[in-house]
Amino acid sequence: MSATAEAPTAVDPTAEPFSARLKAATWNDHAAAEHHGFTRALTEGELPLDGYTAMVAQHYFAYVALERVGRQLIEDPVAGRFHYPELERVPALETDLAHLLGADWRDHVSPTPATRTYVARIEQMADHPAGFVAHHYTRYLGDVSGGQFIRRIAAGAYGLSDDAGVAFYVFDALGSLPKFRAGYRERLDSLDLDERTADLLVRETRLAYQLNTEVLADLGRRHA
Ligand code: HEM
Repeated sequence: MSATAEAPTAVDPTAEPFSARLKAATWNDHAAAEHHGFTRALTEGELPLDGYTAMVAQHYFAYVALERVGRQLIEDPVAGRFHYPELERVPALETDLAHLLGADWRDHVSPTPATRTYVARIEQMADHPAGFVAHHYTRYLGDVSGGQFIRRIAAGAYGLSDDAGVAFYVFDALGSLPKFRAGYRERLDSLDLDERTADLLVRETRLAYQLNTEVLADLGRRHA
């Protein structure tokens, strides 16, 4: 993050917890992602299997970037607090893609233009640790929240199992998901960010939602 001459302003301790502020400030962006035509087809069980498979493939490129940058930031006092090895999704995505596309799945997947833009932004976060937290939050807290709904829909619609096809949504290593979500929010609340950084994190989360919505829109044009 660039240094400036201004002294950082402390966040008002009587203010609402940062996790609540983050959710409230970004919930409209969540709605845009959730109610997009592609997502709607998915949640209504009407998306063809090749559309679901294409989404899993695009997830793969995003999570490779997220998990690579996350490892680069392990020592960072802010981003390092969000290094949860048990959340890592790349192995599960590889399992799902091998099931959906076959052992040679790597020959059949490539990032769409929207995914390339998203991945580039994630990679920039190697120099912006608070921004990295925004991307981490947008994906992983979503996967352990609404993602669990998608897991059930996809398993039913396509006859997929937790071992192969919807492994991406299986977080057995986390134990209770409500407890995990509460602990994650406590971490967000304990970051002790100055106002400028808190605002940056909120704005980067809005961007992360928009980049995700673009990926979905791109998929919708091809598959929905
Ligand atoms: C398929 C459509 C989706 C459904 C049905 C859905 C549903 C939900 C639900 C029910 C919650 C829990 C709300 C709560 O705890 O009060 C949630 C949280 C969340 N979702 Fe989604 N979601 C969807 C898509 C997405 C997408 C595409 C993303 C990100 C790209 C996302 C990111 C999040 C995040 C970050 C949270 C946590 C919010 C917080 O508690 O701070 N969701 N979602």
